[in-house]
Amino acid sequence: MSQENSIQHGRATFRPSGKIQFGVFFQGVNSGTIWKTPEAGSQTDFESFRRIAQTAERGLFAAFFLGEGLRLREHLGRPHALDVAGRPDAQTMLAALASVTRNIGLVATQNTTYNDPADLAHRLASLDLLSGGRAAWNVVTTDNAWTGANFRRGGYLDHSDRYVHAEAFVQTAKRIWDSWESDAVAASTAADSWAAPGHVRTVRHEGQHYTVDVTPRLPRSAQYRPVLFQAGDSPDGRDFAARQADVIFSAHPKFEAAVAFREDIVARTVAAGRGANDVQIFPASEFILAATDQEAQEKKEWVRSLQIGPQQAIAYLEQFWGRELSSFDPDGPLPDIDPAVETTSETRGSGFHGAKARELAEQWRAEAAEHGWSIRQFVSSRTARIDSTFTGSYSSVADTLAEYARVGAVDGFNISPWIIPSGLDDIVNHLVPELQERGVYPTEYAGSTLRENLGLATPERSPELVPVGSVR
Ligand SMILES: Cc1cc2nc3c(=O)[nH]c(=O)nc-3n(C[C@H](O)[C@H](O)[C@H](O)COP(=O)(O)O)c2cc1C
Repeated sequence: MSQENSIQHGRATFRPSGKIQFGVFFQGVNSGTIWKTPEAGSQTDFESFRRIAQTAERGLFAAFFLGEGLRLREHLGRPHALDVAGRPDAQTMLAALASVTRNIGLVATQNTTYNDPADLAHRLASLDLLSGGRAAWNVVTTDNAWTGANFRRGGYLDHSDRYVHAEAFVQTAKRIWDSWESDAVAASTAADSWAAPGHVRTVRHEGQHYTVDVTPRLPRSAQYRPVLFQAGDSPDGRDFAARQADVIFSAHPKFEAAVAFREDIVARTVAAGRGANDVQIFPASEFILAATDQEAQEKKEWVRSLQIGPQQAIAYLEQFWGRELSSFDPDGPLPDIDPAVETTSETRGSGFHGAKARELAEQWRAEAAEHGWSIRQFVSSRTARIDSTFTGSYSSVADTLAEYARVGAVDGFNISPWIIPSGLDDIVNHLVPELQERGVYPTEYAGSTLRENLGLATPERSPELVPVGSVR
């Protein structure tokens, strides 16, 4: 850590820790997931999850991370060609993984739009207790009415209302986790009652979207309460994270963008009345590594060819064009016909841009023409999130990451292995030791809880309950 890298905001100063950590994001649903090669394992068998989690733990990863997909995307009435499989329920899977791991954090992505706070807070507290204080909740609002159609209340929240709702939801969850004081459970059999009278509080909330009146059923975990991650990149999403989260799962791994994102989050965090270092940042990333830079480049070409075949390339564009494009050559230029701008049922679940679709298509045609890219090459550059890819020899990628650590651009990387279940092996066997040699990566777990391993402070108890009805 050096003084020149600190970021000053008013009287608060962000100081880089000089370290980075890793999390692993087992994606399940995505074009980055390869199934067309004999080494590719199951996306749903427990064995794949166990192997990834245990390899990550061998590499001292801070967290094992699961996303949430509430509905399998459809394209032309079929499961989407870009999707490999739906995601098993995160909390069920993480509960099973808790029993075959000891130190790694277990992060469940769960939305605030279709869940209820008393129920979700209880389930997360259960995971936190049974894992010995290793649970985390990645808070998302999700943004899809088609998904919402399967829920009792439907896709009922406008995008602009989702964070208002999320804030009240998270505050309520925190109060539920706060409600048992540390000494609430009897320390010995001599006590009169198991739960000390007056040491457990009832939580009440009456708002626009739900009502809560609950005496929480569980005491605190070894890490007090689950760690809070957040994913969602709009200005409202960033402000919400600055007020409520411990860690942001960001979409900005590229160096300049990561530094700019850090500065933005520091400013928002300080404005929210918290310390400049209080919110950590872990961007999504993909590593393609080999013994030499050249081998890694060749490997990347091979990985991309497996990720995006001709069918996937066309299907990807069809999502945004909102119409069938099968007559176009995947190895030719981008379609010269305009996208549909009215609502379409071709692809359901993501992608379609409605009124903005024509603008997007024009930008993409220009970008592809500039690089001389075919449809396949263009789609490959986008879906593989080229910006988030670190490609190179173990030592050159370690040098790059050490620079991120030095300036404090990020606190860690949430790595998506390009293949399951062997995709972390070279990272753990070769990259981690290189990083340890450079002094930027942990050499042991700091403790047994996720909060300790991330270096997060024990939470302050939530401010005394906001008067009932004042928060929506
Ligand atoms: C890196 C990253 C990962 C995300 N993962 C998920 C996910 O697994 N499931 C989900 O429903 N939403 C996920 N989201 C999106 C959130 O649903 C987010 O709430 C949504 O984009 C709307 O918020 P925004 O407008 O602030 O981006 C993710 C977002 C980011 C940036």
